[in-house]
Amino acid sequence: MTSAGELDAADPLAQYRGLFVEAPGVVAYLDGNSLGRPLTASVERVGTFLRQEWGGRLIRGWDEGWLDLPLHIGDELGRVALGAAPGQVAIGDSTTVLLYKLVRAALDARPGRTEIVIDRDSFPTDRYVVEGIAADRGLTIRWVDTDASAGVTPDLAALRVGPSTALTLFSSVAYRSGYIADVERITAIAHAAGALALWDLSHSAGVVPTSLDAWGVDLATGCGYKYLNGGPGAPAFLYVRQELQEHLRQPIQGWLGSRAPFEMGQGYTPAAGIRGMLSGTPPIVGMLAMQDMIALIDSVGLDAVRAKSVALTEYAVELCDELLPDARLASPRDSARRGGHVTIDHPRFAELMPVLWERGVIPDFRRPNGIRLGMSPLSTSFAEVELAVRTIAELLAG
Ligand SMILES: Cc1ncc(COP(=O)(O)O)c(C=O)c1O
Repeated sequence: MTSAGELDAADPLAQYRGLFVEAPGVVAYLDGNSLGRPLTASVERVGTFLRQEWGGRLIRGWDEGWLDLPLHIGDELGRVALGAAPGQVAIGDSTTVLLYKLVRAALDARPGRTEIVIDRDSFPTDRYVVEGIAADRGLTIRWVDTDASAGVTPDLAALRVGPSTALTLFSSVAYRSGYIADVERITAIAHAAGALALWDLSHSAGVVPTSLDAWGVDLATGCGYKYLNGGPGAPAFLYVRQELQEHLRQPIQGWLGSRAPFEMGQGYTPAAGIRGMLSGTPPIVGMLAMQDMIALIDSVGLDAVRAKSVALTEYAVELCDELLPDARLASPRDSARRGGHVTIDHPRFAELMPVLWERGVIPDFRRPNGIRLGMSPLSTSFAEVELAVRTIAELLAG
């Protein structure tokens, strides 16, 4: 096996690691897929924003660009990471709230249809949002049962999608296994049945090349604080395909999604286009770090980011095979079907987590017994991956 030192020395993206804030005492950060590290530039940027823009421009800032920031950054994200032409992506709210808006809007656009198709292993928030809306409206959920070490395939989706399906909701990359779904084929299956397809892109945005326009995706949303490094609680993003925008009405009617917010008029008329998906005052400070990361991904190129991501996860799998023979790989072996993280299961992993954190080795834990090694390509070194797997092996042996 090639050593981590050799891999880091040959890594064309190694220089970018120095752009992130150092965390004292952390020797291996493998949770960038839950919370990306901050760029040093973002520390400066947010400080400058507070002093000069907020502090200096005060309320005038809204007229000088802040109000357009959710759509402006949305367009940048669409171009750099989502394969989306301008006017289809907006930043705002949490993923949970955006899921609620999109699911409700999609159901209203398919009147008479009574079923929602969703993966039983979806991230909890996706399931809870769908369960709440289904209960409210007397709709039926058609659960797709997937292998937790893999994810939703076109064949499994096709078993549940039918003439009553209003909407399908799946994750482009499964949060536990890292399985990359065939977004294009599954979307086509939904369309063939007359349904809309909504995708949760939380674990692919910024790390797995995505072509929403070309794949015919209707709706999508995802987190801004994972591979987009927006920071804790950073706003999420949503995508609504251009042709659908005039037919969709989202349920959280707020003034900043209305056609003329500053007229303060009676009755709600939605703004045209993607702006109509907004609700209240956009969380500006939370978008700034995300914008810095999108610019960095743009300068590096998403294909180069993906190439390093594949190299990192391949190395992690090799190390686990060699050093953790009793652990079970709970992610796809085929890197073409694997996103930016690798999950390994072992009955003793839960007890290891506090010790790992004490030693500055920070992976993620997913119940009941999975350690998730999340490698954010621009900030993670091969040495961190090796150190983490060796430490896990050492603790298991001890
Ligand atoms: C796949 C997926 N969807 C949704 C969420 C939740 O997003 P939020 O807390 O921003 O609503 C997460 C959070 O980790 C996630 O992994």
